Amino acid sequence: LKHFLTIEGLSRELLIEILEKAEGFVSVAQQAVKKVPLCRGKVIANLFFENSTRTRTTFELAAKRLSADVLNLNISTSATAKGETLLDTLRNLEAMHVDMFVVRHASSGTTHFMARHAHPHSSIVNAGDGGHSHPTQAMLDMFTIRRHKGDFSRLSVAIVGDIMHSRVARSQMLALKTLGVPDVRVIAPRTLLPTHVEEAFGVSAHHDLREGIRDADVVIMLRIQRERMNSALLPSEHEYFHLFGLTEKRLATAKPDVTVMHPGPINRGVEMDSQVADGERSVILEQVSNGIAVRMAVMSMCIGTQNSRAQAAGEDHV
Ligand code: CP
Repeated sequence: LKHFLTIEGLSRELLIEILEKAEGFVSVAQQAVKKVPLCRGKVIANLFFENSTRTRTTFELAAKRLSADVLNLNISTSATAKGETLLDTLRNLEAMHVDMFVVRHASSGTTHFMARHAHPHSSIVNAGDGGHSHPTQAMLDMFTIRRHKGDFSRLSVAIVGDIMHSRVARSQMLALKTLGVPDVRVIAPRTLLPTHVEEAFGVSAHHDLREGIRDADVVIMLRIQRERMNSALLPSEHEYFHLFGLTEKRLATAKPDVTVMHPGPINRGVEMDSQVADGERSVILEQVSNGIAVRMAVMSMCIGTQNSRAQAAGEDHV
């Protein structure tokens, strides 16, 4: 793993390797063991051109638990505000010997673009690019599902909400199908469901919440991505909750031991009510905690690839 940009095209074996590695990092992520030296001497920069609470901080914690030096570039006070291009920012940070860039950007494809132009020694990790991809979120969600449900091969997983604008949903559908989940359903108003989603991802599409989550093992709720939406598409919050908001009563059609997830941030009273969000079937905060171990796994694998390539090339700065 040199860069980590998308789930698309990755093998089941690689996804399982990430999950297994993350299992090995849980004790460090939970601070039973303080740190491991896998990225000692490496510099990891967080470049978040879009807001974040969970992803940015868990990447930072993960990098610190791997003993890396961490730079958090404040984009609003950086030279980006004076018109510096993304590539110039990349080149300047590379001149400071940054080894890995964790990047979130509003434009789809930004991290692929950066990976194409990065120095051969650098790694780019996608922390969310536009409506395209959020691969570490999908992997921490897979990790959480595996911890609660074990075998992927018998599961029914329902993803509910704004599928159209969600990079998380895209990455989750790809990961679930790659890991062999036989029944993946997407549930949304017609205006928030991409055309051809069934053929493109091998999922089934539904427009009725109760029917869509019937007998589901896992229900993943999504936020309405207002920031990516044409205002003509914006549903009223009240109307949306009335039709697609998850309540205890509606959840009754799912399996009794259903696991309820949400990548955050939650809009309480829009996609779900607080009783469900904070209820006994919710693992939403566990998802956040699992983000540290999964991001440790991804970053250590990328740094491991950098080290092996440098060793193969006979370089001495590993
Ligand atoms: N799930 C997620 O990406 O949350 P943040 O926007 O807080 O990083």
